[in-house]
Amino acid sequence: MRISIIGCGYVGLVTGACLAEAGHEVVCTDNDAAKIGVLNQGRIPIYEPHLDQLVDGNRKKEKLVFTDNASEAVRSSSAIFICVGTPPLENGDADLSAIDAVARVIATESASPKLVIEKSTVPVQTGQQLKQALAVYGRKAGVGFRIASNPEFLREGTAVEDFLHPDRIVVGVEDETTERELREIYGPILDGKFNCPVHNPSCPPHEQPNFVVTTINSAELIKHASNSFLALKISYANALADMCERLGANVEEVTRAMGLDPRIRPEFLRAGLGFGGFCLPKDIQAFIRLAERAGMDFALLKEAERINKQRIARFLEKTRNSLWVVKGKRVGMLGLAFKPNTDDIRFAPGIELIRRFLSEGAFVSAYDPAAMDKARAIFPEISYRQNAYEVAKGADALLIVTEWQEFRGLDWERIYDSMARPLVIDGRNLLDPAVMARLGFEYHSFGRPE
Ligand code: UGA
Repeated sequence: MRISIIGCGYVGLVTGACLAEAGHEVVCTDNDAAKIGVLNQGRIPIYEPHLDQLVDGNRKKEKLVFTDNASEAVRSSSAIFICVGTPPLENGDADLSAIDAVARVIATESASPKLVIEKSTVPVQTGQQLKQALAVYGRKAGVGFRIASNPEFLREGTAVEDFLHPDRIVVGVEDETTERELREIYGPILDGKFNCPVHNPSCPPHEQPNFVVTTINSAELIKHASNSFLALKISYANALADMCERLGANVEEVTRAMGLDPRIRPEFLRAGLGFGGFCLPKDIQAFIRLAERAGMDFALLKEAERINKQRIARFLEKTRNSLWVVKGKRVGMLGLAFKPNTDDIRFAPGIELIRRFLSEGAFVSAYDPAAMDKARAIFPEISYRQNAYEVAKGADALLIVTEWQEFRGLDWERIYDSMARPLVIDGRNLLDPAVMARLGFEYHSFGRPE
């Protein structure tokens, strides 16, 4: 099939590259001409494992092309995925102006009927608005549009794997033709018939994904409901961690045993600095607003958000309790990205921590394997170091902010010797408290006995 993707952010790029790998002809477009220029030089503007390989391979086979000419992309394809950003407005609502602008382009440029698929995260009932917008903007040409909602559940850092081996593909449709067409688009992924870059050379068999067909409203709601539930789980684990600290229990032991119950499952129960990134924080906010507009106070979600915001305060409190005076102290941060295997620092706890430490007069240095360029653009005034050892040298406190794998295997004896004060505050419960104590560190983490 000939498919166009509008918006070359995380979702758009991964969708485009993976659908090309699945055998479709894909044209990706973005109104940021500089980004398209970079992609056309064979460079990927984001750090995402395997994505470069997919983009490169499919560009060479001419299965994947990039253009800033959205009109041409729309005209040349029968199915269009809308993957533009829906960032939060001041009041927590999702900003849908990019969706509206795309609807106008699709409606005015199409000369033949199209399937328009909403992949961006949007509040429920956006599909209805989109359908109306396409009809109004395209009233002169009189071209027919079918619409579908196909929320994306990929996680940054494992996006390619999540797309090619999903546990579910949700499609919200209004008719059987649309359902059939979406089955055809996802056919190779449903059948596992593609050249898997993640598990090459011999991709192990995966369970066939569930193909879930719903109404458009339900599909839109499933996305917000899923992300908000994940946020709830994390906040629950964090509240539990605070309780464990007060009552002398170990949150890891508690959540491990809880997670063995298949009704609970172990994922998303890791306590620490809380959730960040561009999805969970904005989606929980948008869901709260959505409930408000529907005349409902979804207080459960508000509490989860409040607990999450408190994590930064808890981390600062632990640092202050040890350092006593923060002003003039050298704090070294290990990690900046909102989670490992990504360079994304949007709504990352580390970014908020830098802001707070700078405002309290501390000297901040940092190292992150992938996110330093992005952080430099926000905080040019802090010191960026080549590795974790450079950050530790002469520091009064070492703060673990992102659980990159490489931080686990550091030579902690060497770090101990190089620090001005051997204090480690572990915001991700990455290290073993007993080992750190044995090495002589003053070590604090979350919800674990010290
Ligand atoms: C999230 C969802 O997991 C995806 O399913 C969804 O598709 C995506 O949002 C989206 O809406 O596009 P992502 O933001 O990439 O994916 O990251 P997660 O892996 O969900 O992590 C979110 C945050 O929660 C991170 O800051 C992570 O450190 C934190 N977290 C995660 C915890 O604090 N504890 C945990 O146990 C798990």
